[in-house]
Amino acid sequence: MRDIVCNCQMVDRDTIDKAIHEKRATTIEEIRRYTGANTGCGKCMSYINSILDSEVPKVAAKKPETTSRFKLW
Ligand code: FES
Repeated sequence: MRDIVCNCQMVDRDTIDKAIHEKRATTIEEIRRYTGANTGCGKCMSYINSILDSEVPKVAAKKPETTSRFKLW
């Protein structure tokens, strides 16, 4: 069963998580831009902010996926 975060735009938790983990969204504005969530009545803002509060630190703790093209020796 889908965990709907934003009922107005029918955006689920998985979509929010992907925006955070794959597109590196860190703000409510970026969540709006990438998913369309929170662009209706606005009632889902506190839920989305709680997801950001729990997930963004996990992304920040991960090492960057790209490596520098410059070698240090
Ligand atoms: S529930 Fe998300 S904008 Fe209304």
